[in-house]
Amino acid sequence: LSVENQNIISAYEWLTKLYHHLLRYTKDGKDGYRYFRDRGISDETIDEFQLGFAPNIKDFTATFLEKKGFHKQLLVKAGILTLQSDDTVTDRFRGRVIYPIRNHLGKTVAFGGRTITDQGPKYLNSSESDLFHKGKILYNFDLAKKHIRKKSEVILFEGQMDVISAYQAGVKNVVATMGTALTEMQAKLLRRYVDNVIICYDADNAGIEASYKAATLLQSVGCQVKIAKMKDGMDPDNFIQEIGAEAFKTEVIEASDTFMTFYMNYLKKDYNLSLEGDRLQYIENVLKELAKIDSPIEREFYVKELSSEYDLMMDTLLEEIQVYRQKSDTPKDKSEKDRYTNKVQKPYQ
Ligand code: UTP
Ligand code: MN
Ligand code: MN
Ligand code: MN
Ligand code: MN
Repeated sequence: LSVENQNIISAYEWLTKLYHHLLRYTKDGKDGYRYFRDRGISDETIDEFQLGFAPNIKDFTATFLEKKGFHKQLLVKAGILTLQSDDTVTDRFRGRVIYPIRNHLGKTVAFGGRTITDQGPKYLNSSESDLFHKGKILYNFDLAKKHIRKKSEVILFEGQMDVISAYQAGVKNVVATMGTALTEMQAKLLRRYVDNVIICYDADNAGIEASYKAATLLQSVGCQVKIAKMKDGMDPDNFIQEIGAEAFKTEVIEASDTFMTFYMNYLKKDYNLSLEGDRLQYIENVLKELAKIDSPIEREFYVKELSSEYDLMMDTLLEEIQVYRQKSDTPKDKSEKDRYTNKVQKPYQ
């Protein structure tokens, strides 16, 4: 680690402690404290995640850190201060609750700041730096790691609040992408630690689209993927706080769908299934996806579903699948096919 990066980490350490202290013990931070308590977050959880509050004063942070000997230039690089067009600097986080973002070693390398007054963007992050690239970090990975190993499973959320609520409720193998855009780097990072990923994004359009993308990406690096579903409009944090942790475990996590079941629903959005032509195309596309599954038992399971839902003979569907499987058995399509299994398997004939 360069001296500069060590200093950046040290600045984040000071600031994490300061913001946390303000929130927890001072009048200046009481709006932030109220905010978290009103969202069902306990003192213990606030401490564990080192949640904090940045006061709404434009040079509060700059003044504090300069007194500690940090240079403005460094703090701009760190993403803590913002350079204005007239070359002056101001605090980046003002009047926001603060979520320290730790790297996989547990060092804080950035902050997420959420408005508590509905002003400006809902979440604001530190700008990217040598130490912080949003696409390379998963929120809470350092704390979740040992639980991920123990359960051989990780639950992937969108946001910090989803992670914090789940963790508080005892579901600790949880990380977040901080948004809906899972990157290949993050997928590979997860793959190094675990086979099984449960994607638990928000139950809205953005979340469902992102679930599909994330699932495909995770499968392409060799993960087994499941997709959790909740009632329309909910997210994991809402669900846990409003309906409860037990229901979250049994009705959301344990009841999560296989990729194929998710896909069969997901694909419906492109078709009007009351029209015969659409229905046929839909079924063809489902069969194409089914052909990528290497286990004959698994294939038959879904074929049975299709056959009863659309009143088609199982044999016809299975035959069609064999046609797709033979077609995709050419070397050029091998990688595509291998996406769905961790190892190269013999073609099923
Ligand atoms: P969401 O939009 O789902 O957050 O964004 P939310 O559930 O409504 O937030 P709360 O519960 O009201 O606090 C999910 C994640 O995407 C990132 C944040 O990391 C957030 O947790 N995000 C969201 C941003 O970076 N910027 C934004 O403006 C919004
Ligand atoms: Mn939202
Ligand atoms: Mn969302
Ligand atoms: Mn959300
Ligand atoms: Mn939320």
